[in-house]
Amino acid sequence: MQASVTLDRENRIGQVDKRIYGSFAEHLGRCVYGGLYEPGHPTADEEGFRGDVLELVRQLDVPIVRYPGGNFVSGYRWEDGVGAKETRPKRLDLAWRTTEPNQVGVNEFVRWCRKAHTTPMMALNLGTRGLQEALDLLEYCNHPSGSALSDLRVSHGEREPHNIRVWCLGNEMDGPWQMGHKTAQEYGRLARETGCAMKMFDPSLELVSCGSSHTGMPTFPDWERETLEHTYDMANYVSLHQYFSNADGDTPNFLAGALETERFIRTVGSICDTVKAKKRGKKDIYISFDEWNVWYHSHKSDDNSMANRPWTEAPPLLEDIYTMEDALVAGSVLITFLNHADRVKIACLAQLVNVIAPIMTKTGGGVCRQTIFYPFLHASAYGRGVALRPNVTSPLHDTKNFTDVPYLTAAATRNEETGEVCVFAVNRSLDQPLDLTCNLKGFEGLTRGEHITLCHSDLKAVNTVDAPDEVTPRRALFTPDGGVSSVRLPAASWNVLRYSK
Ligand code: AHR
Repeated sequence: MQASVTLDRENRIGQVDKRIYGSFAEHLGRCVYGGLYEPGHPTADEEGFRGDVLELVRQLDVPIVRYPGGNFVSGYRWEDGVGAKETRPKRLDLAWRTTEPNQVGVNEFVRWCRKAHTTPMMALNLGTRGLQEALDLLEYCNHPSGSALSDLRVSHGEREPHNIRVWCLGNEMDGPWQMGHKTAQEYGRLARETGCAMKMFDPSLELVSCGSSHTGMPTFPDWERETLEHTYDMANYVSLHQYFSNADGDTPNFLAGALETERFIRTVGSICDTVKAKKRGKKDIYISFDEWNVWYHSHKSDDNSMANRPWTEAPPLLEDIYTMEDALVAGSVLITFLNHADRVKIACLAQLVNVIAPIMTKTGGGVCRQTIFYPFLHASAYGRGVALRPNVTSPLHDTKNFTDVPYLTAAATRNEETGEVCVFAVNRSLDQPLDLTCNLKGFEGLTRGEHITLCHSDLKAVNTVDAPDEVTPRRALFTPDGGVSSVRLPAASWNVLRYSK
């Protein structure tokens, strides 16, 4: 099969906000305890943070990490997680039926972020709590000193304010599973009150208003319209979540899933603009796609354990082991974000370690890069600068839920500092390679090419701590010929084409 990508350096979508390579760490399963934090582990530092995990997070170059939930945050009392560790209470986390030891809280997380070369994105509990507790946490974190809560932080050993810039006004408040689930009117009103008060403290904070938990929600898309009519003046982003599943074993349909992401972004983007027009507003509302991933491998075992499990600390939950085909879905979602760089400014791969994550650990043992680690690594490393609008031609096919699905999905970036141009491409065909012609118009002197490929003869192949290198990328050099180059994309593959001087 033949396909082509044509790029014009003047045809720009917009600047890539590096925060689209964000992630998420929830107090859930072994993400925090046994993932980020495991005192006594051979690689743990003096604070108990696993050094092997920190090393892989730094490799991924994740600019922002959402914390502490997720569903967990809707029952969380942040005060439990500060002060002397031995006095912190154990609490029942109803969201995941787990005992929370509170040995990691906001101060530990911010210190972990510094070590991981990232920044925190703090979610607030608007489920069982509200405006006052949100303001208290903000004062504790961001006020320098001279008030009760900022001085409390200083007394906890944190002299400098954390200066957290991005705050989520609750989590998935449209979901009946959420503690304190609300109607759009109830949530919109609470989020607005909370956001307005937070901006009285600091108008430069960036606030995220909850959007829909997924496109199948009965309240989607009215939820976005109704809530944004309340929150337009103080919110900067609306948050979207989406998880992908191949539970029915229909791989072509699964690989087309990012078309749904595309529709989701377009629909919510148009609602943001409609509300802006209605408000006679000047500012745009952007999208924070702050939970996305493949999530289904662990569903069966988790359903059983949720019902029968006694209350324990950090049980293994949502520990999906990712396959080669999952990496293709992850890659095509990243491509979709790049192609909407003008609207999607933050995105968080859910989650970072152990819980539906690119990084898996063994408690007391080693660590591994899951298959989805690689498309994320490549996009984060090379997909920076300006997103260019690719003109793509590709053969099409139909799947159960989608018609006219292109076998080739692609995005492109130009790094203005290095001059490097990158094309990111997934070949969705399960059995045919794609002969891809890339035509780079008006880019001078790009004489060196590198083709990175991730593929495997078995779409169900996985990496594990014991066999960590079953699915790994390979690299090959090529010479672009006068702006035109032809490369072969193997069947069912993730590809990065790097063009440099
Ligand atoms: O990421 C796992 C869970 O998925 C989060 O806690 C919740 O926000 C979503 O439903």
